[in-house]
Order: sequence, then structure tokens, then C-alpha cells
Amino acid sequence: MSAVSCLLPLVVLLKVNKTFRNKFSVLYMELFGFVVRQMEPIRKRAFEILQEHLPNRKLSTPLEILEIGVGGGANLEYYPENSNLTALDKNDTFSNYFNDHKKKFSHVTYKKMVSSMAEKHGRNRRFFDGRGRGTYVLCSVQDVKAVIKESEACTEASKFLFVEHVAFPDSHLGSKVQNFAAPLWRLFCDGCNINRKPSEEIRKGGFSNVECENQFPSNAWLFLRPQFIGIATK
Ligand SMILES: C[S@@+](CC[C@H](N)C(=O)[O-])C[C@H]1O[C@@H](n2cnc3c(N)ncnc32)[C@H](O)[C@@H]1O
Repeated sequence: MSAVSCLLPLVVLLKVNKTFRNKFSVLYMELFGFVVRQMEPIRKRAFEILQEHLPNRKLSTPLEILEIGVGGGANLEYYPENSNLTALDKNDTFSNYFNDHKKKFSHVTYKKMVSSMAEKHGRNRRFFDGRGRGTYVLCSVQDVKAVIKESEACTEASKFLFVEHVAFPDSHLGSKVQNFAAPLWRLFCDGCNINRKPSEEIRKGGFSNVECENQFPSNAWLFLRPQFIGIATK
């Protein structure tokens, strides 16, 4: 009973107050930052895939990268040498972490921060001309299809690198657990949906080629274990 009476006001506040929700996300990041670190091998692998797709790259020419939903900038460490970053996020909740990463990883030149919803098809294009990428973001966006379309628009003759945690297959017991926990998870984790299948949207998204890998990092939380990473070519 007392757990319910503590939880209920928290749930109501999270539902109705955006500022509280944002502040809660930062507290959450402090408490559960280790979950982000558990994903390091997956991020590393994703950037290896990107490097494999740039065999003839001249290091003297900067690699233009648009990162969708950049958050705290956990990927900057893995960017290829001499990368130019245009960062896009719908809010600046994690800007302190992002600023720390910016200072730490000098092989990345920071160009600008675009404060925008990734769904705004056609609007983000004017900020960017190069390679798009997004990690652990399709779980949170309002409209997965629109974001994939936008990524396509932003990746002229280029690549969209993705790293996403996804739903277990329907037949797996984990899928039932994910579906059960999804509403509370969404509320506590800044709109993150643990039971989405962005892989299907990426495959149907109109890219000429999608190379992907299913990953299952055993050290990750059960909810976040099935992962889908790869690269889509326009
Ligand atoms: C789970 S965090 C992932 C951060 C980072 N990409 C990473 O891999 O650690 C999701 C980020 O996406 C951002 N985001 C969610 N929905 C978005 C949208 N519709 N448009 C732009 N950014 C969005 C959130 O603000 C948050 O910073």
C-alpha cells in the first residue's frame, strides 16, 4: 500500500509535467548510467561497420555526420577520425553530458546543435548534407516511419547507421515481459518503448540496401537485450 502511495504521485507528476520528466531523466541517467556503458561493445561494433563502408575514405576530408537524438553524446568516442558533427535532439536534457563528451573527444569537430523533432520531414535537410546516424533513438520518437524518411532525406548518396534495442520475437517469453513492462518503462524512461520493431520500418524504408546484424549482449538488461544494428544505404 505504501509503495503505491509513493509511486502514484510520481507517476502523475511524470505524466503531466514535462520539466519534472526532464529532470527525472537526468537523475535516472546518474543512477543507471551503467546501462549506457553496457552498450559500449555494440556501439563499437556499429562504428566498425561504418568504417567497413568507407574503404576509400581520405582522412584529410572531414566525414560529415548528423546524429539524430544525440542525447549525452555517448557515441562521440567511436566517431571516425576527422568527423564533423551536426547534433540534433528534441531537447537539451543531457547537455551537460554532451558538453563533457565534446571536450573529451577532440577528433570530432562540433558544428552545430539543431534543436528539433527528428520527425519534421524536409525541415532538417537544410541543416545537413552527409551521413546520418541514430542510436537508441527510434525507441523514443513519436513516429518511427517519419524519422526513417527524414534520415533518408538527410543521407544523400550516403549512409544511415543505426543501433537500436528492439522487441523480442513474439514467440519468445521475453516479448510478454516487455509488453507487460512497456507502459511503466515508457513513463520512467523518457518515452522509451521497449517493445518496438524498428527493424521492419528500416527494411521497408526505401533504402537501396540494408545491412544489419541481430545482437544479443548477454551483459545488458533483459529488456534491452535484443538489438538491431547496421547500415542503410540510400
Ligand atoms: C535513449 S536517448 C539515446 C541518446 C544517444 N543517442 C545514445 O545512444 O546514448 C534518446 C535521445 O533521443 C532524443 N529524442 C527522442 N525522441 C526524439 C525526436 N522525436 N526527435 C529528436 N530527438 C529525439 C531524446 O531527447 C534523447 O536525447
